[in-house]
This record gives sequence, structure tokens and C-alpha cells, in this order.
Amino acid sequence: MSLGKLIDKKYNDLSKRIDMQKVPEHIAIIMDGNGRWAAKKGLPRSFGHKSGVSVLKEILKASKKLGCKILTVYAFSTENWTRPIEEVNYLINLFCEVLKNEIEEIHQESIKLKFIGDLTPFPEDLKKVVYSSESLTKNNDTFLLNICLNYGGRQEIVKVAKELALKSSDGEIKPSEINEELFNSKLLTQGIKDPELLIRTSGEKRISNFLLWQLAYSEIYISEVLWPEFNEHEFLKAIIDYQSRNRRFGGIESLPTESFEDSQYSS
Ligand code: FPP
Repeated sequence: MSLGKLIDKKYNDLSKRIDMQKVPEHIAIIMDGNGRWAAKKGLPRSFGHKSGVSVLKEILKASKKLGCKILTVYAFSTENWTRPIEEVNYLINLFCEVLKNEIEEIHQESIKLKFIGDLTPFPEDLKKVVYSSESLTKNNDTFLLNICLNYGGRQEIVKVAKELALKSSDGEIKPSEINEELFNSKLLTQGIKDPELLIRTSGEKRISNFLLWQLAYSEIYISEVLWPEFNEHEFLKAIIDYQSRNRRFGGIESLPTESFEDSQYSS
């Protein structure tokens, strides 16, 4: 059998194992490993980021195909400002270029774009394209792509705490009225259900200040693959693994099913 056919067979075998009734509605992704991928190839880190864009496009398509409804990706964290200025500027320009080039197709695909994070420190150019992309796609209802830019989970929680403290000191609410529901309604992700699954690439086993509140009960899947090498096949592996989990939310429940890692298709 040719290599191409072998890859197709492996992919088809994997896609057949997906239970379409149990696809997570919301998947969050930490796209990690761009720099290491580039270094491994003797290339500047920027090549890793650039390659990461086409992977994001592939995973977006695969998510839609599977019937997933929301993808939230960590594109730039509040900590990423500490990188060399050249890399920060490269990333900002990349976001601008990608948005300008892809927005028409994103809109045609009926994808709604939402940016999560504090956009204040970004240059006007990026802010302009961010606002126009959000405005153009605001009524699209097939799929939601959340892009986290200058996002930090702790900062988000502190922001909500301040807002509620102010409301309380103004007498608008009583401290006793502060509960999870109210807190949740003030988050940057208000109105969006929490992710059922978090995928992090590159083998790192950390949350890195990503969606700290929202990931409270999410299943975590760590892929050893660096983001520029991640693809639909690796994504399907994550979904199959997720579907083998026994989600108990702190309670007790049914017997676990076979784990993906135990199965004959793991690689
Ligand atoms: C982490 O890898 C990746 C980033 C900080 C940037 C991710 C951005 C993209 C993939 C572009 C997405 C484009 C849009 C428009 C959303 P790293 O640099 O931390 O890798 P390392 O851990 O190997 O150094």
C-alpha cells in the first residue's frame, strides 16, 4: 500500500471512531510550540508563528466538519509582551495580515469572530481590523471563533471582582448577591458556554493563565506535537480521547470506557 493510502486509511479509521453525538461543543486550544518547531528547523521563531496560522485554519475547518460550535484560541497572552520587541511586533503584524486576508472567507463560512482580552495596548491598525471583523461577522451563527489577544485569566477575574466591588459600594448590589452566576455574567466570555475540552500542544502540562474560571471542569488533552505540526489527525485523536473520559463534575458516575492511549490507533 502507498504511503498516501496508508495515511488516508489511518485517518478514516480514526474519523470512524468519533461519536458524532458526543463532539464537544466548545474546544479551547493553547497553540504552543511555534518557536521550538522553528528552532528545530534552524529557522527564526517567526516562521513557527507563520506556519501556525495554516494549522489554525485546518483545525477550524475540522471543528466545523465535526459539528463543534465554538473554538477559543490563545493567540497572545498578557505575558507575551515580555518577548523581544521584534517578536511582539511580528505577531501583531501577523494578526493584522491574517485578519485582512481571511475575513471575507471567514464571513462567507458564517463564522462569527470575537476577540477576548484587553485590546488597549495594541496599535490602531490592529484595533481597526479587529473591530471591523467583529462587526462584519456579528450576525453569523454557524460557528464562533474566539481569539484571545492580550488575555490573562487572572486579570479577567480581577476585572470582574473590581466591577462587582464597585457595584456593591455604590449600593447597586448587596455583597450577599454575588454568586457564580453573577460573576460568570461579567466575564469576557459572558454568554458563551464553558469549554468541555482544552487541548494544549507541545507537551507542556500547564494552563498558563488561560481561561482560569472557564476551564474549571474541562477535560485536558496534552498533545506532544508542536503546534505547526498539529493537524486534523492529531485533533481527532484529542476528540477520541475526550470521548473516552468519564466526566463526573465532582460526582460519581458510570464505568470509564477504553482510553484512546490504550487503543491500537495510538501513535
Ligand atoms: C506559542 O508558541 C504561540 C504563540 C504565542 C502565538 C500563536 C499565534 C498563532 C498561531 C497565529 C494565529 C493567528 C491569528 C490571526 C489568531 P511559542 O512561541 O510560545 O512556542 P515555544 O514555546 O516553542 O517558544
